[in-house]
Amino acid sequence: MEHSSKSAPLQPKDRLAVALDFPSAKLALDLVDRLDGSCLWFKVGMELYYAAGNSLIETLRGRGFNIFLDLKLHDIPNTVAGAVRSATQAGASLLTIHAAGGPAMMSAAAEAAAAPGAPRLLAVTVLTSMDAAELAAVGVSASPAEQVLRLARLAKHAGVDGLVCSAEEIGALRAELGREALLVIPGIRPSGSEVGDQKRVATPRSAIERGASMLVVGRPITRAANPAQAAKSILEEIAEAN
Ligand code: C5P
Repeated sequence: MEHSSKSAPLQPKDRLAVALDFPSAKLALDLVDRLDGSCLWFKVGMELYYAAGNSLIETLRGRGFNIFLDLKLHDIPNTVAGAVRSATQAGASLLTIHAAGGPAMMSAAAEAAAAPGAPRLLAVTVLTSMDAAELAAVGVSASPAEQVLRLARLAKHAGVDGLVCSAEEIGALRAELGREALLVIPGIRPSGSEVGDQKRVATPRSAIERGASMLVVGRPITRAANPAQAAKSILEEIAEAN
């Protein structure tokens, strides 16, 4: 999944993760069934993981799917390194950590993720729910854009594989991190679909054209009348944007 000229060309299915934002394994697996094999990657976040745990990961892995475990780890280095090892055992292929945990925490995570079979690490920089006032409230005087770049540099230096970021940040982050970094983009809305609570949205085509490695799509697929058809349209858009 590297955004690199050296690796084999990525197929559209390798570049789309469906966010399984559900409260139970049953609801998540119902959606997976309705997708009928059209998608290969599923993002499991805190809501589903705390409800369904590793047995769901095992079920999805057993069916041949790849898991993006979005747990946004943020703790002392030793604890986060242990969590990366546990996520490796669970079979995650991608795992998120908070860049705000600092250089030592990210280095410890990257070291643990160097083991065979370990997930690739993605750092989350500034939560998209935080604006300048929220940052100031926690003692950060930099603008959100400056803080994103600062944390991105730290993540790269610590050996983290990539970042989760908005489509608007792709240009600046590619310039900073180079071609190899994995840039994974949520907030994707196919033209004509509901924006919901997302603020900085992009179409699949525009995110790929700007340099996204992979897209995360939740509700435009999970709440579609026909999820498999919605996924297929997004995959076609990814293919056309290549
Ligand atoms: O339903 P929707 O397509 O908005 O889902 C997007 C997914 O990406 C959700 O799981 C959300 O938690 C996640 N995400 C996001 N914005 C971020 C980081 C993660 O929307 N900055």
